Amino acid sequence: MENIIEIKNLTKYYGSLFWKKKKPSLYDLNLTIPDGAIFGFLGPNGAGKTTTIKILMNLIKQSSGEALILGCPPDNVEVKRLIGFLPDAPAFSPYLSAVEFLNICAKLFGIPSDIRKKRIAEVLETVRMTRHAKSKLGGFSRGMTQRIGIAQAILNNPKLLILDEPLVGLDPHGRQELKDIILDQKARGTSVFFCSHILSDAEKICDRIGILCESRLLCSGRLDELLSETGSKLHVSPGHDDIAKEMLSAATETIKRPDGGWELSFQNKEETTQALMAIKEKHGGAVTITSSRESLEDFFFRKIENATKQS
Ligand SMILES: Nc1ncnc2c1ncn2[C@@H]1O[C@H](COP(=O)(O)OP(=O)(O)OP(=O)(O)O)[C@@H](O)[C@H]1O
Ligand SMILES: [Mg+2]
Repeated sequence: MENIIEIKNLTKYYGSLFWKKKKPSLYDLNLTIPDGAIFGFLGPNGAGKTTTIKILMNLIKQSSGEALILGCPPDNVEVKRLIGFLPDAPAFSPYLSAVEFLNICAKLFGIPSDIRKKRIAEVLETVRMTRHAKSKLGGFSRGMTQRIGIAQAILNNPKLLILDEPLVGLDPHGRQELKDIILDQKARGTSVFFCSHILSDAEKICDRIGILCESRLLCSGRLDELLSETGSKLHVSPGHDDIAKEMLSAATETIKRPDGGWELSFQNKEETTQALMAIKEKHGGAVTITSSRESLEDFFFRKIENATKQS
């Protein structure tokens, strides 16, 4: 299969026929995600991200359009076995221990009894919850609950992981661990579709993103293609302050390193590019020039700002 998710003209109006909301919560979404990708679905609160996920997970029906997940419609029962899902704000039975809960999940996934115990121990280890295995879920903090949610999502070695705000509630260490888990899942051949507001983390792990704003998709594609090269950096070796000073006034950021070298940042403009080329020609080995990329955060805000200006 080439694409794990194919969405065509997907639109959702909440409410019954008579009370239907006038404004769609999702409007004419078109999205194709290839197998093996880590896809980050980004957008402000209320953009329609959870709505999209709920349609993919067959928790709600679209008003129009089509969604295919692993090549099948979302109500296909067989496909469910191949998907791991973490809903936003998961609420699990407070009376079950972590192991009891995961045991129920494993049975629902049809994991054979002889490997169930081993698999549960493995996922508890992956989410660093082994020492809380016998504790009741009701006593867990938000981050601990989130970790158990992630454990149940990866329990069945899914082909596709769908995670709604997986980084919420996790401390910095937990966020790093989750990013490692996601990258590890990708290395095992699992595709990942997740929503997040934490753009710096999304930038580190996604190979594709989509930005949704006010029910509409603003853009989607490969991260390295979307984030354009917007600037250059001039690195000056120690002992060449004169070269750095020549370019100081045109730089947007200037760093003098502890070793005496310099790092000057420039925005891409015709005249700065020419000046940098001239410096390179004149001073050769004392300087290097690299290109710098726009951050995902800057890209995100630029797209959202343009979209809100136009509406
Ligand atoms: N059950 C519902 N009934 C009516 N409207 C709803 C319902 N669920 C969501 N909405 C509306 O649909 C829109 C999109 O909501 P959605 O939860 O998909 O946003 P989101 O992008 O996931 O936001 P967040 O980042 O806050 O999680 C919002 O305007 C919301 O008010
Ligand atoms: Mg949401």
